[in-house]
Amino acid sequence: MNTQVLINTASALVADDKGLLAMDESTPTCNKRFAALGIPQTEVARRAYREMIVTTPKLGECISGAILYDETIRQKTKEGTSFLNVLIDSNIIPGIKVDMGAKELAGHPGEKITEGLDGLRERLAEYHEMGARFAKWRAVIAIGEGIPTQCCLEGNAHTLARYAALCQEAGLVPIVEPEVLMEGTHTLDRCLEVTQEVLRIVFIQLGCQRVLLEGMILKPAMVLPGSGCPTQASVDEVADATVDCLLQAVPATVPGIAFLSGGQSAQLASARLNAMNLRFKSRAPWALAFSFARAVQQPALELWLGDAANVKAAQQALLHRARCNTAARRGEYTAAMEDG
Ligand code: G3H
Repeated sequence: MNTQVLINTASALVADDKGLLAMDESTPTCNKRFAALGIPQTEVARRAYREMIVTTPKLGECISGAILYDETIRQKTKEGTSFLNVLIDSNIIPGIKVDMGAKELAGHPGEKITEGLDGLRERLAEYHEMGARFAKWRAVIAIGEGIPTQCCLEGNAHTLARYAALCQEAGLVPIVEPEVLMEGTHTLDRCLEVTQEVLRIVFIQLGCQRVLLEGMILKPAMVLPGSGCPTQASVDEVADATVDCLLQAVPATVPGIAFLSGGQSAQLASARLNAMNLRFKSRAPWALAFSFARAVQQPALELWLGDAANVKAAQQALLHRARCNTAARRGEYTAAMEDG
């Protein structure tokens, strides 16, 4: 394991106020997003959509790395250039989603465990050979009556840590994503309590598996009240709760925290990230960055609609969101950026 290469890649992923673009929806998830907008759910449409994204001019000014899906990492533009090379030429580091999805956790109704460790060493070697330099694995934790259970937290933390160790062995920076879901009626305080416990167990397991913390990125959800909670929180309350929670649980040696958006609106995700940086950037030990999927891509998808005539407008919308989030990393995002 070349630790310096891992450290350099991890720092590059959160450098210059840039962030990650999670364009790694699995085929079923991508099809679900297409179906909602009446876009054909075909390989041809998915390839055209991802070509629209990776060929967005100037994307590399705001995006440091793009997370691809197995289908996408093998695809090319219509001129025949691999998406991997398009990204590299745009100064964007290619990454790859390597988990095989969250499945029902046996004996634990309402809880899931992420699968994909079998054969992972071989898959990572192939992705590294292709040019990927980082990877992603998502675990999901639901909050509800009697959940999450200790069994769910420990099982997911253990698999995340084993995945992370295998990534580093293969020369890939692991993005460690324990997502506490927004769905539910829980309060902000309950989300904070669960997120802190999740992170505490994840970092114990990362230590057990001898994961190099300087060579990884953490991808958590922001600390939010459940989407069905009658008491919602202000932007500043979310920023305070999120950073307070992370300060208790995330070692300072981790170079960056890149949030997922989790179903927040694109504008709220930018505003909350902005508030975190505005209030805490000077004293947080790690970069507070982004690794959004919906909060960057959804406005572009809604303009593209599967029609080549809409590519330019969709690319402008994508770049706009990427710029808003880079501004949020500097604490310079304002609602006025959304005008026009
Ligand atoms: O694994 C989840 C994605 O990488 C982030 O997606 O920003 O739409 O929650 P999201």
